[in-house]
Amino acid sequence: MPAIRSVYVCQQCGASSPRWSGQCASCEAWNTLVETVVSRTTAGAGARARDRAAAAGSAAISPIGEVSSAEASRLPSGIGELDRVLGGGLVPGSIVLFGGDPGIGKSTLLLQLAARLAQAGHTALYLTGEESTAQVRGRAERVGAVVHGVGLVATTDLATAVGAIEATSPALAVVDSVQTFASAELGGPAGSVGQVREVATRLAEVAKAGSTCVALVGHVTKEGTVAGPRTLEHLVDAVIYLEGERMGTTRLLRAAKNRYGSTEEVGVLEMRSDGLVEVADASRFFLESERPPVAGSAITIALEGTRPLAVEIQALVAPAGYGSPRRATTGIDVNRVLMLIAVLARHAGLNLTGHDVYVNVAGGLRIEEPAADLAVAGALASSLRERPVREGTVLAGELSLSGRLRPATRADRRLAEAARLGFDRLVTGPERGTGLASSSRGAAGGGQIVAATDLREALSLALVGD
Ligand code: TYD
Ligand code: MG
Repeated sequence: MPAIRSVYVCQQCGASSPRWSGQCASCEAWNTLVETVVSRTTAGAGARARDRAAAAGSAAISPIGEVSSAEASRLPSGIGELDRVLGGGLVPGSIVLFGGDPGIGKSTLLLQLAARLAQAGHTALYLTGEESTAQVRGRAERVGAVVHGVGLVATTDLATAVGAIEATSPALAVVDSVQTFASAELGGPAGSVGQVREVATRLAEVAKAGSTCVALVGHVTKEGTVAGPRTLEHLVDAVIYLEGERMGTTRLLRAAKNRYGSTEEVGVLEMRSDGLVEVADASRFFLESERPPVAGSAITIALEGTRPLAVEIQALVAPAGYGSPRRATTGIDVNRVLMLIAVLARHAGLNLTGHDVYVNVAGGLRIEEPAADLAVAGALASSLRERPVREGTVLAGELSLSGRLRPATRADRRLAEAARLGFDRLVTGPERGTGLASSSRGAAGGGQIVAATDLREALSLALVGD
Protein backbone atom coordinates (compact mmCIF):
# COMPACT_ATOMS: atom_id res chain seq x y z
CA MET A 1 0.00 0.00 0.00
CA PRO A 2 1.39 3.43 -0.88
CA ALA A 3 2.51 5.55 2.07
CA ILE A 4 0.47 8.49 0.79
CA ARG A 5 -3.04 8.36 -0.56
CA SER A 6 -5.74 10.91 -1.08
CA VAL A 7 -9.35 11.22 -0.06
CA TYR A 8 -12.05 13.74 -0.88
CA VAL A 9 -12.98 15.87 2.09
CA CYS A 10 -16.16 17.92 2.28
CA GLN A 11 -15.23 21.54 3.03
CA GLN A 12 -18.53 22.07 4.77
CA CYS A 13 -19.03 19.11 7.11
CA GLY A 14 -15.60 17.45 7.03
CA ALA A 15 -16.86 14.05 5.91
CA SER A 16 -14.44 12.19 3.67
CA SER A 17 -15.08 9.84 0.82
CA PRO A 18 -12.69 7.80 -1.34
CA ARG A 19 -14.14 9.13 -4.61
CA TRP A 20 -15.11 12.54 -5.92
CA SER A 21 -18.76 13.33 -6.42
CA GLY A 22 -20.68 16.53 -7.03
CA GLN A 23 -22.63 16.27 -3.82
CA CYS A 24 -21.46 15.38 -0.33
CA ALA A 25 -23.15 12.14 0.73
CA SER A 26 -23.14 13.25 4.34
CA CYS A 27 -24.41 16.85 4.41
CA GLU A 28 -25.71 16.99 0.82
CA ALA A 29 -23.87 20.23 -0.01
CA TRP A 30 -22.87 20.64 -3.66
CA ASN A 31 -19.32 21.00 -4.98
CA THR A 32 -17.66 20.91 -1.60
CA LEU A 33 -15.43 17.83 -1.99
CA VAL A 34 -11.73 18.67 -2.21
CA GLU A 35 -9.02 16.11 -2.84
CA THR A 36 -6.68 16.02 0.17
CA VAL A 37 -3.53 14.06 0.88
CA VAL A 38 -3.72 11.63 3.77
CA SER A 39 -0.19 11.42 5.05
CA ARG A 40 1.32 8.31 6.53
CA THR A 41 0.86 9.59 10.08
CA THR A 42 -2.88 9.29 9.72
CA ALA A 43 -2.72 5.89 8.03
CA GLY A 44 -3.60 3.87 11.12
CA ALA A 45 -4.22 4.15 14.84
CA GLY A 46 -1.06 2.19 15.65
CA ALA A 47 1.13 4.49 13.58
CA ARG A 48 -0.54 7.54 15.13
CA ALA A 49 0.16 6.34 18.66
CA ARG A 50 3.81 5.66 17.76
CA ASP A 51 4.17 9.13 16.29
CA ARG A 52 2.70 10.74 19.36
CA ALA A 53 5.06 8.88 21.64
CA ALA A 54 8.03 9.85 19.47
CA ALA A 55 6.94 13.48 19.32
CA ALA A 56 6.47 13.76 23.09
CA GLY A 57 9.94 12.38 23.71
CA SER A 58 11.67 14.70 21.28
CA ALA A 59 9.73 17.97 21.65
CA ALA A 60 12.37 20.68 21.94
CA ILE A 61 11.26 23.27 24.49
CA SER A 62 13.12 26.56 24.25
CA PRO A 63 13.11 29.26 26.94
CA ILE A 64 11.44 32.27 25.27
CA GLY A 65 14.38 34.50 26.11
CA GLU A 66 16.71 32.32 24.09
CA VAL A 67 14.61 32.24 20.93
CA SER A 68 15.78 34.73 18.34
CA SER A 69 13.06 36.89 16.85
CA ALA A 70 12.24 37.12 13.19
CA GLU A 71 13.22 40.82 13.27
CA ALA A 72 16.91 40.06 13.66
CA SER A 73 17.20 38.08 10.48
CA ARG A 74 14.99 40.10 8.15
CA LEU A 75 16.35 40.43 4.67
CA PRO A 76 15.76 43.84 3.06
CA SER A 77 14.28 43.15 -0.35
CA GLY A 78 16.04 46.05 -2.03
CA ILE A 79 12.67 47.45 -3.09
CA GLY A 80 11.74 50.01 -0.44
CA GLU A 81 8.02 50.06 -1.19
CA LEU A 82 7.89 46.27 -0.86
CA ASP A 83 9.82 46.36 2.41
CA ARG A 84 7.34 48.91 3.72
CA VAL A 85 4.44 46.52 3.10
CA LEU A 86 6.30 43.43 4.31
CA GLY A 87 7.13 45.20 7.57
CA GLY A 88 10.84 45.70 6.96
CA GLY A 89 11.94 42.93 4.64
CA LEU A 90 11.61 39.23 3.93
CA VAL A 91 11.63 36.86 6.87
CA PRO A 92 13.75 33.75 6.27
CA GLY A 93 11.73 30.55 6.60
CA SER A 94 8.45 32.25 5.76
CA ILE A 95 6.04 31.86 2.88
CA VAL A 96 4.47 34.91 1.28
CA LEU A 97 1.66 34.83 -1.24
CA PHE A 98 1.67 37.51 -3.94
CA GLY A 99 -1.83 37.74 -5.37
CA GLY A 100 -3.20 39.83 -8.19
CA ASP A 101 -5.00 39.85 -11.50
CA PRO A 102 -3.29 38.19 -14.45
CA GLY A 103 -1.03 40.67 -16.25
CA ILE A 104 -0.77 43.09 -13.34
CA GLY A 105 2.98 42.56 -12.90
CA LYS A 106 3.50 39.80 -10.32
CA SER A 107 6.14 37.94 -12.32
CA THR A 108 7.90 41.21 -13.06
CA LEU A 109 7.99 42.22 -9.40
CA LEU A 110 9.28 38.87 -8.19
CA LEU A 111 11.92 38.63 -10.88
CA GLN A 112 13.13 42.09 -9.88
CA LEU A 113 13.07 41.01 -6.24
CA ALA A 114 15.17 37.92 -7.07
CA ALA A 115 17.67 40.11 -8.91
CA ARG A 116 17.93 42.66 -6.07
CA LEU A 117 18.63 39.92 -3.55
CA ALA A 118 21.22 38.35 -5.84
CA GLN A 119 22.90 41.74 -6.24
CA ALA A 120 23.10 41.92 -2.46
CA GLY A 121 25.00 38.64 -2.42
CA HIS A 122 22.16 36.17 -1.76
CA THR A 123 20.93 33.42 -4.02
CA ALA A 124 17.49 33.25 -5.57
CA LEU A 125 15.70 30.46 -7.38
CA TYR A 126 12.92 31.25 -9.81
CA LEU A 127 10.65 28.26 -10.46
CA THR A 128 8.49 28.94 -13.46
CA GLY A 129 5.48 26.79 -14.21
CA GLU A 130 3.86 29.24 -16.58
CA GLU A 131 6.57 30.41 -18.87
CA SER A 132 9.66 28.86 -20.41
CA THR A 133 13.10 29.80 -19.11
CA ALA A 134 13.61 31.67 -22.39
CA GLN A 135 10.56 33.82 -21.71
CA VAL A 136 11.73 34.58 -18.20
CA ARG A 137 15.17 35.42 -19.54
CA GLY A 138 13.53 37.82 -22.02
CA ARG A 139 11.75 39.64 -19.21
CA ALA A 140 14.91 39.62 -17.12
CA GLU A 141 16.75 41.46 -19.89
CA ARG A 142 14.03 44.07 -19.93
CA VAL A 143 14.13 44.73 -16.20
CA GLY A 144 17.87 44.32 -15.65
CA ALA A 145 17.60 41.01 -13.82
CA VAL A 146 20.21 39.02 -15.70
CA VAL A 147 22.28 38.77 -12.58
CA HIS A 148 24.70 36.23 -11.17
CA GLY A 149 22.98 34.35 -8.35
CA VAL A 150 19.54 33.99 -9.93
CA GLY A 151 18.75 30.41 -10.97
CA LEU A 152 15.86 29.36 -13.21
CA VAL A 153 13.93 26.10 -13.21
CA ALA A 154 11.04 25.40 -15.58
CA THR A 155 8.77 22.80 -14.03
CA THR A 156 5.20 22.25 -12.92
CA ASP A 157 5.96 19.30 -10.68
CA LEU A 158 5.80 20.01 -6.97
CA ALA A 159 8.32 17.32 -6.02
CA THR A 160 10.85 18.74 -8.51
CA ALA A 161 10.33 22.23 -7.11
CA VAL A 162 10.75 21.05 -3.53
CA GLY A 163 13.85 19.06 -4.51
CA ALA A 164 15.43 22.11 -6.17
CA ILE A 165 14.78 24.31 -3.13
CA GLU A 166 16.10 21.72 -0.69
CA ALA A 167 19.20 21.07 -2.79
CA THR A 168 20.23 24.72 -3.07
CA SER A 169 18.58 26.42 -0.01
CA PRO A 170 18.33 29.81 -1.70
CA ALA A 171 17.45 32.93 0.29
CA LEU A 172 14.41 33.34 -1.95
CA ALA A 173 12.43 30.80 -3.98
CA VAL A 174 9.80 32.22 -6.31
CA VAL A 175 7.08 29.77 -7.31
CA ASP A 176 5.22 31.19 -10.31
CA SER A 177 2.40 30.31 -10.06
CA VAL A 178 0.68 28.20 -7.44
CA GLN A 179 -2.05 27.39 -9.95
CA THR A 180 0.36 25.72 -12.39
CA PHE A 181 2.17 23.40 -9.98
CA ALA A 182 0.80 19.98 -9.08
CA SER A 183 1.66 17.05 -6.87
CA ALA A 184 1.79 13.67 -8.61
CA GLU A 185 0.30 12.19 -5.44
CA LEU A 186 -3.05 13.80 -6.14
CA GLY A 187 -5.23 12.93 -9.09
CA GLY A 188 -6.76 16.36 -9.62
CA PRO A 189 -5.44 18.79 -12.23
CA ALA A 190 -3.12 21.72 -11.42
CA GLY A 191 -5.17 24.64 -10.21
CA SER A 192 -7.83 22.54 -8.47
CA VAL A 193 -8.50 23.46 -4.86
CA GLY A 194 -6.89 20.26 -3.59
CA GLN A 195 -3.72 20.78 -5.65
CA VAL A 196 -3.35 24.47 -4.85
CA ARG A 197 -3.69 23.74 -1.17
CA GLU A 198 -1.23 20.85 -1.30
CA VAL A 199 1.34 22.95 -3.18
CA ALA A 200 1.10 25.73 -0.60
CA THR A 201 1.17 23.38 2.38
CA ARG A 202 4.21 21.52 1.08
CA LEU A 203 6.10 24.70 0.22
CA ALA A 204 5.29 26.18 3.63
CA GLU A 205 6.85 23.09 5.22
CA VAL A 206 9.94 23.46 3.06
CA ALA A 207 10.24 27.15 3.99
CA LYS A 208 9.84 26.46 7.72
CA ALA A 209 12.36 23.62 7.66
CA GLY A 210 15.12 25.83 6.28
CA SER A 211 15.81 29.52 5.91
CA THR A 212 14.38 30.01 2.44
CA CYS A 213 11.66 32.59 1.97
CA VAL A 214 9.13 31.19 -0.48
CA ALA A 215 7.30 33.73 -2.62
CA LEU A 216 4.21 32.13 -4.06
CA VAL A 217 2.47 33.79 -7.00
CA GLY A 218 -1.31 33.38 -7.17
CA HIS A 219 -3.70 34.68 -9.80
CA VAL A 220 -7.00 36.06 -8.68
CA THR A 221 -9.73 34.99 -11.09
CA LYS A 222 -12.75 37.01 -12.11
CA GLU A 223 -14.82 35.71 -9.23
CA GLY A 224 -12.05 36.81 -6.87
CA THR A 225 -12.08 33.56 -4.99
CA VAL A 226 -10.84 30.66 -7.13
CA ALA A 227 -8.78 27.73 -6.19
CA GLY A 228 -6.35 30.51 -5.47
CA PRO A 229 -5.23 33.23 -3.13
CA ARG A 230 -8.36 33.34 -0.98
CA THR A 231 -8.25 29.60 -0.22
CA LEU A 232 -4.60 29.98 0.64
CA GLU A 233 -4.63 32.92 3.01
CA HIS A 234 -4.54 30.83 6.17
CA LEU A 235 -1.75 28.59 4.91
CA VAL A 236 0.81 31.33 4.39
CA ASP A 237 2.51 33.90 6.63
CA ALA A 238 1.67 36.96 4.59
CA VAL A 239 -0.56 37.82 1.65
CA ILE A 240 0.45 40.77 -0.47
CA TYR A 241 -1.82 41.97 -3.25
CA LEU A 242 -0.54 43.82 -6.28
CA GLU A 243 -3.36 46.02 -7.51
CA GLY A 244 -3.98 48.64 -10.12
CA GLU A 245 -5.83 49.44 -13.29
CA ARG A 246 -4.43 47.29 -16.05
CA MET A 247 -4.39 50.17 -18.49
CA GLY A 248 -2.90 52.60 -16.00
CA THR A 249 0.67 52.43 -14.74
CA THR A 250 0.18 52.81 -10.97
CA ARG A 251 0.54 49.61 -8.96
CA LEU A 252 -0.27 49.41 -5.28
CA LEU A 253 1.07 46.83 -2.87
CA ARG A 254 -1.16 46.02 0.05
CA ALA A 255 -0.97 43.33 2.71
CA ALA A 256 -4.20 41.41 3.35
CA LYS A 257 -2.49 39.43 6.08
CA ASN A 258 0.93 39.79 7.63
CA ARG A 259 2.26 37.71 10.51
CA TYR A 260 5.35 39.91 10.62
CA GLY A 261 3.98 43.41 10.27
CA SER A 262 1.07 45.74 9.84
CA THR A 263 -1.56 45.34 7.13
CA GLU A 264 -2.10 49.06 6.83
CA GLU A 265 0.92 50.12 4.88
CA VAL A 266 0.55 50.75 1.17
CA GLY A 267 3.40 50.49 -1.31
CA VAL A 268 3.31 52.54 -4.48
CA LEU A 269 5.04 51.43 -7.67
CA GLU A 270 4.88 52.47 -11.28
CA MET A 271 5.02 50.06 -14.24
CA ARG A 272 7.49 51.35 -16.77
CA SER A 273 9.00 49.79 -19.87
CA ASP A 274 11.90 48.54 -17.76
CA GLY A 275 9.85 47.05 -14.96
CA LEU A 276 8.32 48.30 -11.73
CA VAL A 277 9.94 51.35 -10.18
CA GLU A 278 9.37 53.01 -6.84
CA VAL A 279 7.48 56.27 -6.83
CA ALA A 280 9.62 58.95 -5.31
CA ASP A 281 6.88 61.18 -3.92
CA ALA A 282 3.77 59.07 -3.40
CA SER A 283 1.65 62.01 -2.27
CA ARG A 284 2.21 64.08 -5.39
CA PHE A 285 1.48 60.95 -7.35
CA PHE A 286 -2.13 60.75 -6.17
CA LEU A 287 -2.77 64.44 -6.23
CA GLU A 288 -4.53 65.08 -9.51
CA SER A 289 -6.13 68.29 -8.42
CA GLU A 290 -6.38 71.34 -10.58
CA ARG A 291 -5.38 74.72 -9.26
CA PRO A 292 -7.43 76.75 -8.60
CA PRO A 293 -9.80 74.06 -7.36
CA VAL A 294 -12.89 73.17 -9.38
CA ALA A 295 -16.34 72.33 -8.04
CA GLY A 296 -16.75 68.67 -7.05
CA SER A 297 -13.19 68.14 -5.91
CA ALA A 298 -11.83 68.01 -2.37
CA ILE A 299 -8.40 67.06 -1.09
CA THR A 300 -7.86 64.99 2.00
CA ILE A 301 -4.68 63.80 3.64
CA ALA A 302 -5.17 60.10 4.24
CA LEU A 303 -3.03 58.14 6.65
CA GLU A 304 -2.68 54.82 4.96
CA GLY A 305 -0.39 53.06 7.39
CA THR A 306 2.22 55.43 8.74
CA ARG A 307 2.57 57.51 5.60
CA PRO A 308 0.35 60.51 4.96
CA LEU A 309 -0.92 60.65 1.39
CA ALA A 310 -2.67 63.59 -0.24
CA VAL A 311 -5.62 62.28 -2.20
CA GLU A 312 -8.21 63.99 -4.31
CA ILE A 313 -11.83 62.95 -3.89
CA GLN A 314 -13.92 63.74 -6.95
CA ALA A 315 -17.70 63.85 -6.87
CA LEU A 316 -20.24 64.41 -9.59
CA VAL A 317 -23.82 65.14 -8.67
CA ALA A 318 -26.25 65.32 -11.62
CA PRO A 319 -30.05 65.39 -11.91
CA ALA A 320 -31.31 61.81 -12.12
CA GLY A 321 -33.42 60.46 -14.98
CA TYR A 322 -36.35 58.15 -14.39
CA GLY A 323 -36.21 55.40 -11.82
CA SER A 324 -34.03 55.26 -8.77
CA PRO A 325 -30.96 57.49 -8.90
CA ARG A 326 -27.55 55.93 -9.49
CA ARG A 327 -24.84 55.85 -6.84
CA ALA A 328 -21.47 54.59 -8.05
CA THR A 329 -18.06 54.81 -6.42
CA THR A 330 -14.50 53.79 -7.16
CA GLY A 331 -11.89 53.57 -4.44
CA ILE A 332 -14.32 54.00 -1.56
CA ASP A 333 -17.06 51.87 -0.02
CA VAL A 334 -20.39 52.72 -1.60
CA ASN A 335 -22.21 52.16 1.72
CA ARG A 336 -20.06 54.81 3.38
CA VAL A 337 -21.02 57.23 0.62
CA LEU A 338 -24.73 56.35 1.02
CA MET A 339 -24.43 57.16 4.71
CA LEU A 340 -22.76 60.49 3.94
CA ILE A 341 -25.52 61.33 1.46
CA ALA A 342 -28.04 60.78 4.26
CA VAL A 343 -26.02 62.87 6.71
CA LEU A 344 -25.77 65.70 4.15
CA ALA A 345 -29.55 65.66 3.67
CA ARG A 346 -30.39 65.51 7.32
CA HIS A 347 -27.76 67.76 8.86
CA ALA A 348 -26.64 70.16 6.14
CA GLY A 349 -29.89 70.61 4.22
CA LEU A 350 -28.36 69.22 1.03
CA ASN A 351 -30.81 66.81 -0.51
CA LEU A 352 -29.46 64.46 -3.17
CA THR A 353 -32.57 62.28 -3.54
CA GLY A 354 -33.20 63.43 -7.10
CA HIS A 355 -29.58 63.22 -8.17
CA ASP A 356 -27.24 60.61 -9.55
CA VAL A 357 -24.05 60.53 -7.48
CA TYR A 358 -20.60 59.42 -8.58
CA VAL A 359 -17.60 59.44 -6.25
CA ASN A 360 -14.08 58.65 -7.35
CA VAL A 361 -10.79 58.49 -5.47
CA ALA A 362 -8.16 59.77 -7.90
CA GLY A 363 -5.08 57.75 -8.77
CA GLY A 364 -6.47 54.25 -8.17
CA LEU A 365 -6.06 54.38 -4.41
CA ARG A 366 -8.62 52.72 -2.16
CA ILE A 367 -9.50 54.71 0.93
CA GLU A 368 -10.57 52.83 4.04
CA GLU A 369 -10.18 55.34 6.82
CA PRO A 370 -13.26 57.22 8.08
CA ALA A 371 -11.28 60.48 8.21
CA ALA A 372 -11.97 60.74 4.48
CA ASP A 373 -15.68 61.39 5.32
CA LEU A 374 -15.38 65.15 5.40
CA ALA A 375 -13.62 65.34 2.03
CA VAL A 376 -16.28 63.09 0.46
CA ALA A 377 -19.08 65.16 1.95
CA GLY A 378 -17.22 68.32 0.90
CA ALA A 379 -16.81 67.12 -2.69
CA LEU A 380 -20.52 66.19 -2.86
CA ALA A 381 -21.63 69.54 -1.43
CA SER A 382 -19.20 71.35 -3.72
CA SER A 383 -20.58 69.60 -6.80
CA LEU A 384 -24.23 70.14 -5.83
CA ARG A 385 -23.76 73.81 -5.02
CA GLU A 386 -21.28 74.42 -7.81
CA ARG A 387 -18.81 76.04 -5.49
CA PRO A 388 -15.23 74.90 -5.25
CA VAL A 389 -13.37 74.21 -2.04
CA ARG A 390 -11.32 77.23 -1.01
CA GLU A 391 -7.83 77.34 -2.40
CA GLY A 392 -5.21 75.83 -0.11
CA THR A 393 -7.73 73.91 2.01
CA VAL A 394 -7.67 70.20 2.80
CA LEU A 395 -10.37 68.31 4.70
CA ALA A 396 -10.08 65.42 7.15
CA GLY A 397 -12.48 64.17 9.79
CA GLU A 398 -14.97 61.44 10.51
CA LEU A 399 -18.68 62.25 10.44
CA SER A 400 -21.11 60.62 12.80
CA LEU A 401 -24.74 59.93 11.98
CA SER A 402 -25.68 62.95 14.05
CA GLY A 403 -23.70 65.21 11.74
CA ARG A 404 -21.00 65.87 14.33
CA LEU A 405 -17.43 65.97 13.23
CA ARG A 406 -14.68 64.01 14.92
CA PRO A 407 -11.12 65.21 14.57
CA ALA A 408 -8.74 63.37 12.31
CA THR A 409 -6.10 61.45 14.22
CA ARG A 410 -2.63 62.96 14.01
CA ALA A 411 -3.91 66.22 12.56
CA ASP A 412 -0.47 67.85 12.89
CA ARG A 413 1.08 65.12 10.81
CA ARG A 414 -1.54 65.57 8.13
CA LEU A 415 -1.20 69.34 8.12
CA ALA A 416 2.58 69.06 7.78
CA GLU A 417 2.13 66.89 4.69
CA ALA A 418 -0.46 69.30 3.31
CA ALA A 419 1.91 72.23 3.90
CA ARG A 420 4.69 70.40 2.09
CA LEU A 421 2.43 70.19 -0.95
CA GLY A 422 1.47 73.85 -0.80
CA PHE A 423 -1.77 73.77 1.19
CA ASP A 424 -2.10 75.93 4.29
CA ARG A 425 -5.39 75.02 5.98
CA LEU A 426 -6.78 71.78 7.39
CA VAL A 427 -10.47 71.75 8.24
CA THR A 428 -11.21 69.02 10.78
CA GLY A 429 -13.19 68.27 13.97
CA PRO A 430 -12.58 69.89 17.37
CA GLU A 431 -9.84 68.51 19.56
CA ARG A 432 -11.21 65.87 21.86
CA GLY A 433 -12.44 67.29 25.15
CA THR A 434 -12.63 70.95 24.14
CA GLY A 435 -15.81 70.81 22.03
CA LEU A 436 -15.15 74.42 21.06
CA ALA A 437 -16.69 75.65 17.87
CA SER A 438 -14.52 77.08 15.09
CA SER A 439 -11.32 77.21 16.99
CA SER A 440 -8.22 77.62 15.00
CA ARG A 441 -4.65 76.92 15.86
CA GLY A 442 -1.36 77.12 14.11
CA ALA A 443 0.86 74.16 13.53
CA ALA A 444 4.33 73.34 12.39
CA GLY A 445 5.10 74.38 8.84
CA GLY A 446 3.00 77.52 8.93
CA GLY A 447 -0.33 75.87 8.15
CA GLN A 448 -3.44 76.24 10.21
CA ILE A 449 -5.81 73.68 11.72
CA VAL A 450 -9.38 74.94 11.63
CA ALA A 451 -11.80 73.04 13.83
CA ALA A 452 -15.54 72.78 13.18
CA THR A 453 -17.97 70.93 15.42
CA ASP A 454 -20.39 69.76 12.77
CA LEU A 455 -20.82 69.20 9.07
CA ARG A 456 -22.70 72.41 8.38
CA GLU A 457 -20.01 74.51 9.98
CA ALA A 458 -17.21 72.56 8.30
CA LEU A 459 -18.77 73.09 4.89
CA SER A 460 -19.11 76.80 5.43
CA LEU A 461 -15.44 76.95 6.42
CA ALA A 462 -14.38 74.87 3.44
CA LEU A 463 -16.40 76.06 0.47
CA VAL A 464 -15.93 79.31 -1.41
CA GLY A 465 -18.57 81.98 -0.94
CA ASP A 466 -20.19 80.85 2.31
P1 TYD B 1 3.63 40.23 -15.65
O1 TYD B 1 4.68 40.43 -14.64
O2 TYD B 1 3.85 39.15 -16.65
O3 TYD B 1 2.21 40.01 -14.96
P2 TYD B 1 1.65 38.78 -14.11
O4 TYD B 1 2.78 37.90 -13.77
O5 TYD B 1 0.99 39.42 -12.94
O6 TYD B 1 0.63 38.10 -14.98
O7 TYD B 1 3.44 41.63 -16.37
C1 TYD B 1 2.64 41.71 -17.46
C2 TYD B 1 2.45 43.10 -18.01
O8 TYD B 1 3.40 44.05 -17.61
C3 TYD B 1 2.56 43.00 -19.50
O9 TYD B 1 1.31 43.43 -20.01
C4 TYD B 1 3.63 43.93 -19.92
C5 TYD B 1 3.88 44.79 -18.72
N1 TYD B 1 5.30 45.08 -18.54
C6 TYD B 1 5.75 46.38 -18.60
O10 TYD B 1 4.98 47.32 -18.87
N2 TYD B 1 7.06 46.64 -18.39
C7 TYD B 1 7.96 45.66 -18.12
O11 TYD B 1 9.14 45.95 -17.91
C8 TYD B 1 7.47 44.32 -18.06
C9 TYD B 1 8.42 43.19 -17.77
C10 TYD B 1 6.14 44.07 -18.26
MG1 MG C 1 3.17 35.96 -14.49
